[in-house]
Amino acid sequence: MGYRVVVAGATGNVGREMLNILAEREFPVDEIAALASRKSLGTEVSFGDKTLTTKDLDTFDFTGWDIALFAVGSEATKVYAPKAAAAGCVVIDNSSLYRYDPQVPLIVPEVNADAIEGYKAKNIIANPNCSTAQMVVALKPLHDRARIKRVVVSTYQSVSGAGKAGIDELWSQTKGIYVPGQEVAPEKFTKQIAFNVIPHIDTFMEDGSTKEEWKMVAETKKILDPKVKVTATCVRVPVFVGHSESINIEFEDFLDEEEARDILREAPGVLVVDKREAGGYITPVECVGDYATYISRIRQDSTLDNGLNLWCVSDNLRKGAALNAVQIAEVLGNRCLKKG
Ligand SMILES: NC(=O)c1ccc[n+]([C@@H]2O[C@H](COP(=O)([O-])OP(=O)(O)OC[C@H]3O[C@@H](n4cnc5c(N)ncnc54)[C@H](OP(=O)(O)O)[C@@H]3O)[C@@H](O)[C@H]2O)c1
Repeated sequence: MGYRVVVAGATGNVGREMLNILAEREFPVDEIAALASRKSLGTEVSFGDKTLTTKDLDTFDFTGWDIALFAVGSEATKVYAPKAAAAGCVVIDNSSLYRYDPQVPLIVPEVNADAIEGYKAKNIIANPNCSTAQMVVALKPLHDRARIKRVVVSTYQSVSGAGKAGIDELWSQTKGIYVPGQEVAPEKFTKQIAFNVIPHIDTFMEDGSTKEEWKMVAETKKILDPKVKVTATCVRVPVFVGHSESINIEFEDFLDEEEARDILREAPGVLVVDKREAGGYITPVECVGDYATYISRIRQDSTLDNGLNLWCVSDNLRKGAALNAVQIAEVLGNRCLKKG
């Protein structure tokens, strides 16, 4: 016996990956529904070797469905997630709407799977921001060994993190730069993204940081440890898929780079690629379609007593969104909604 599973946002970047990953990992599905907005009614999407026809989220009845993976953005989530939850369907949400709600667990299974029981309060589980998800996978095993005091992170985030519109803008703007008369003005992004980088993701906060940067701080505290201090600079770069992060970590205890490398090699969800030679590290184009969080460039920070630097790369549509959501569904199934 399997589950009746809904994917809301099935025509989007994350929703399509959710369907791919449910099929790849052979999640026990008895029935699956692909939902999107009314304008996509009837659009076909792939689920393994099957083709699904999308239905309208607005008129869908969640009664009798077990799990709904949501990837529709905060506005639509606000309307439809409570309806699904009230109908007895557990929502695993990718938007930021519920992440900071104390009654909603925010989960990265490699880090805090035990928090899953908290879903019962609202029938909702939150999936973190893409940049946070990969970072906490890397930090958790190091924190367990040497207690992290402070993290300084700079991100290099791909345009797919801004949805289909982000991918389209990089593609058309890049082509337009070489064709006189076909220049594409910034619309999704605030400045030209083709052949450029933009130090601004999401809205500005009162203290001068951006919401994306604030999310990394707040979510790391909720998932990993409220005592860990994080300061972030989030940057959009002209890469289609795959987020990269330069991470500087200060520990309470000394941690040798060799030991850190060994710990990370054994850590769940992590692959270490760290040869000190040309090409001996991972770049975002190499992580696309993978499950792993890749770690490279592990080295001591000689300006601190107990400091390390590392480079962290992962597929933002997978570990940063769809894979993490499916992993949460797996934990939910194994621990809370047992079937058969
Ligand atoms: N991309 C990432 O790296 C990433 C990582 C973590 C979390 N997230 C979050 O995941 C969510 C989806 O992101 P995405 O990148 O997949 O965006 P996307 O490519 O723009 O897709 C959005 C999806 O939501 C659907 N949708 C939007 N408004 C709707 C409404 N009112 N009713 C029904 N369906 C609606 C769209 O359907 P139509 O095609 O019919 O419009 C589409 O299927 C967002 O909350 C985002 O913040 C994204």
